Parts: sequence; structure tokens; C-alpha cells
Amino acid sequence: MTTMTVDEAITRRRSVRGYLPDEVPEATLREVFGLAQGAPSNCNVQPWMSYVLSGESLRSLGRKMVDAAKEGIPPDPDFAADRKFEGVYRERQVDAAVQLYGAMGIDRSDRPKRDWAYRRNLEFFGAPHCVMIFMMEGFEEREAVDLGIYAQTLMLALTSRGIASCAQGALGLYPTICREHLGLPETQRLIFGISFGYEDESVDANRARVGRETLENSVRFDA
Ligand SMILES: Cc1cc2nc3c(=O)[nH]c(=O)nc-3n(C[C@H](O)[C@H](O)[C@H](O)COP(=O)(O)O)c2cc1C
Repeated sequence: MTTMTVDEAITRRRSVRGYLPDEVPEATLREVFGLAQGAPSNCNVQPWMSYVLSGESLRSLGRKMVDAAKEGIPPDPDFAADRKFEGVYRERQVDAAVQLYGAMGIDRSDRPKRDWAYRRNLEFFGAPHCVMIFMMEGFEEREAVDLGIYAQTLMLALTSRGIASCAQGALGLYPTICREHLGLPETQRLIFGISFGYEDESVDANRARVGRETLENSVRFDA
């Protein structure tokens, strides 16, 4: 097991979209999910409900979602996923897409290849594990913030052990399929998933690097 400083883990974490088939040992899975339980939340309500999928369960769910996409079944996300960004937010979104599709050698106008790249989301980018993160019906922005903090805590614990990950809103596009697969009631709302495992460095998508806004444009220090 390798661990690193928090600063290193923050700096090294990036979204990985191509994985080796090797599974993460169960003891390590328990360790990282145990660490993520330490994430803070409003009034300590800990609103996350995490389902870790591996092996045949993961592959079978992936097949169901890919089939749905191929058959043109419209996504039915529990949380709106169609926001159109404007201004600087749109610029950042486009830049990230340019970096990713550029690394994959996909022209932005090449619809079939872009559709293929999108469907790789639903196959967990070949990762051997995924965690689907749900929260109870009725929970709103405040609890979603808690889930975000939880997710980053989890991803940093993974990173520090040499395990790559990718948070994916796209994994929240077919919640009905996911609930049925996991035997969950309608009251469990799927917000996103995180694929994870060991990076396959030979995958083109993993050469993508996205930048960040300057500190000056994001943070104001007031005294
Ligand atoms: C909540 C959330 C949802 C995301 N959804 C997707 C997704 O569906 N597919 C994908 O390829 N990347 C997704 N990403 C990854 C972002 O594109 C990525 O974090 C961003 O471009 C910054 O790049 P980095 O993670 O490599 O630093 C998501 C990230 C977050 C935090």
C-alpha cells in the first residue's frame, strides 16, 4: 500500500477514463470507504448511500445502460442534467471537451465517435469497480453538497493508494435501471457514480489534462 500527503493526493488526482482489469483488494476497498465515512456533513446527517459494484454485477449493469443508450431510450435522471452553461462556464466546459476529445483523437464534429466516447461512461470506462451514490428523496442542495465533499474525500483516499477514479454524472442518467439492478426503492435518488481502479496508461483519453482558473479569478481575500 502506498500513501501520500494530502497535498500530493490533491495534486495527483485527475479523472481517469481507461482502466486495467485488475480488481482492488477487498481490504483496501473497506479501508478507503471507511476513511470516506470521515467526511463532514451538515448536522452530521451523512446523507450518502453508496453501492460498490464489481465483477458480474458491474458488467451486467453496464450492459443494461449501454443497451438502453443504443436503443435510444431517453435518460430519466433524478436530478436535472441538461443545464446549458454560458460565458466563462461555457468556455471552461468547451476547453475540457477539447482537451479530452483532442487526447482521444476525436473531431468534435464526429458524432458517431463522440457517441461511442459517451457510451464508455456507461461501461465505467472499463473500470473493475464503481460506486453509485444515492441520497434519500426529499434531500436537496444542502445534502448534495455533503455528497460532493464525501466523493472528494473518497477519491483522495483512492489516489493516495495509487487507485485512479472518475466522478461521472453520466452514471446518474438511468436511475430506474440502476435501482432495479440493485433492488432499491424509488425513494433512493441516484446523483452520480464514481468509476475506479488502476489506470491503464496506454488509453489515449488518459493523456487529457485540463487546467484551472487563476486564484485571482476564483478567490477574493478580504480583510
Ligand atoms: C460531479 C461530477 C460529475 C462528472 N461527470 C463526468 C462524466 O459524466 N463523465 C466524465 O467523463 N467526466 C465527468 N466528470 C469529470 C470532470 O470532467 C473533471 O473532474 C473535470 O474536467 C476536471 O478534470 P480532472 O478531474 O481531471 O481534474 C465529473 C466530475 C464531477 C465532479
